Amino acid sequence: MAQHLDKDRIRRSFDRAAATYDAHARVQERLATELVARADGEPERILELGCGTGTLTALLRSRFPEARIVAVDFAEEMAARTRARVPDAEVIVADVEQLDLEEPFDLTISAATIQWLADPAATLARLAPAGRLLLATFGPRTFWQLRATGIEPTLHLRSAAEWEALLPLEVESEELDVVYPGARAFLRTLKRTGTANAGRGDPGALARALRLYDERFAVPGGVVATYELLFLASPAP
Ligand SMILES: C[S@@+](CC[C@H](N)C(=O)[O-])C[C@H]1O[C@@H](n2cnc3c(N)ncnc32)[C@H](O)[C@@H]1O
Repeated sequence: MAQHLDKDRIRRSFDRAAATYDAHARVQERLATELVARADGEPERILELGCGTGTLTALLRSRFPEARIVAVDFAEEMAARTRARVPDAEVIVADVEQLDLEEPFDLTISAATIQWLADPAATLARLAPAGRLLLATFGPRTFWQLRATGIEPTLHLRSAAEWEALLPLEVESEELDVVYPGARAFLRTLKRTGTANAGRGDPGALARALRLYDERFAVPGGVVATYELLFLASPAP
């Protein structure tokens, strides 16, 4: 079922984060690296959804030097960075949920983006009716510590079981604990990677929640935040 998303706000938030994204997107970089490691065969035509600043695009270009790569992102500032980083990729600025591409792709791939789609099943059925699908996203255990302090992320993150019910894909899940210098630094990282709504709302309540976070989730070197990484793949041919 489609969920309601404020796409304009999401897009603006990623546009604003374009200049700071690479310095803070360590986890997203890891998703992209792990995803490319799962790509097999010799795809001639690759479609990438939500290319951002081009981290995954550049890895794809190195791994498949001969492939035609079409990379899509609706945030112009993000897309411009992919264009500069991988000049021979075809970069399209568009909402992937509004896009129609006539061309068939051997591989459709996406890192840290499908959680931002209102109707990922319909979008993937339209854009990738055939070929291999490799997707990486975040599961609902992500930032459980934040929720425990009273900060409720507005984006619904689907579980492995929900994704399996939605799409004919195999899903693998792994947890990653990341240490940040403190709760405020953690929240800053979310903002600088474009995660909409991080730190919005009543400032007093936010300050209290962050103090609680610093107390409850202290570890050597700062505080811990858990990411649940989900890897979705169509069965290898
Ligand atoms: C967290 S970033 C991930 C970027 C890149 N794949 C990476 O791994 O670093 C998510 C990207 O998806 C883009 N995005 C989100 N929803 C989108 C949509 N409906 N259509 C096109 N791009 C979208 C955002 O603009 C952003 O650049």
